[in-house]
Amino acid sequence: MTEKNFVPRGQLSPDESGRVSWTAPSNIALVKYWGKKGEQLPANASLSFTLSHCKTETSLEFEPLRSKNTDIDFDIFLDGENIVDFRPKIQSFLLKIYKYFPVLPHYRYTIRTSNTFPHSSGIASSASGMAALAACFTEMEALLSGGMEADFFMKKASFLARLGSGSASRSIQGSIMEWGEHHFIPGSSDLYGIPFPFDLHPVFHTYRNTILLLETGVKQVSSSRGHELMKGHPLAGPRYEIAGNHIEKLCGVFKTGDLDLFVEIVEHEALALHAMMMTSRPSYILMKPATLNVIEEIRSFRNQSGIPVCFTLDAGANVHVLYPKEYEPGIMKFIQDQLVAYCQNGHYLCDRIGEGIQRV
Ligand code: PMV
Repeated sequence: MTEKNFVPRGQLSPDESGRVSWTAPSNIALVKYWGKKGEQLPANASLSFTLSHCKTETSLEFEPLRSKNTDIDFDIFLDGENIVDFRPKIQSFLLKIYKYFPVLPHYRYTIRTSNTFPHSSGIASSASGMAALAACFTEMEALLSGGMEADFFMKKASFLARLGSGSASRSIQGSIMEWGEHHFIPGSSDLYGIPFPFDLHPVFHTYRNTILLLETGVKQVSSSRGHELMKGHPLAGPRYEIAGNHIEKLCGVFKTGDLDLFVEIVEHEALALHAMMMTSRPSYILMKPATLNVIEEIRSFRNQSGIPVCFTLDAGANVHVLYPKEYEPGIMKFIQDQLVAYCQNGHYLCDRIGEGIQRV
């Protein structure tokens, strides 16, 4: 498929008003997307667990305008409050999707959104937020065009979500998503994410992710800036090659359930992401002392207990602890005894692998 497939072919009838509402979860990358090209296309393929509890719920009300607007007319409410800070991000998203949704300026929009996780948690809401909004616009298109085939709905939602935030393309379906063209993954595309197309060992059906909130402030360097700094980064080439190899290896792991290899690859990916930041020009460090302490604790607990628990990191200081469901009681005790002390105000979030967007 190409971009052209996402431009509606038939006429959309711009005279109906309506309301659609979707939830979308966050996701945690196992193989990280870091570096982009073209119009929000990934420099390397990535693979993620779709989450379940950390999600955004968004409703979109649309009302036809008497004459087409030059600007896109919208209001955005977060938890019932009209939030001006969000406007530029939404405005830029709307301008990007315009090409693929030509009736956009014929309506006025009211967007109401809320997250299940606290704003101050340092958990990025861009993946779940953009995915929920993209699902709303996709349903709006489906309504105006008299229907849309289910598989295409998912692809279009992921395609639009990607234009808002790359990683959002992986928040549409579950339970494992792949985004970015990769020779080993049939149907993979830079334009949208797809559900992992191979057999999945049962251990991965119920995987757990506990997010330790170590640093809840605003990041010093945004992800957009981080992606930009990959251009001309001397280690970019090897990094993209390693990410590609990791995707291939993880396909095997997902089949066999080889958790030792899973742990090795996932932790390598997390540290490679931060290594890119630490060796870019200018360089920067998003990990905090608590991040390193927690990593040490997890590794020593794993060595002593033999439990295949591992960590991964986002573009921030918080640590995602990943483990199979059967070890939950032991890991929760370990978190309480050893790791909560590093969390800001003792806060952490418990999540698990999940299924993607849902109509409300
Ligand atoms: O989707 P963005 O542009 O916010 O980039 C996110 C990048 C990472 O979260 C660090 C990695 C990933 O693949 O999700």
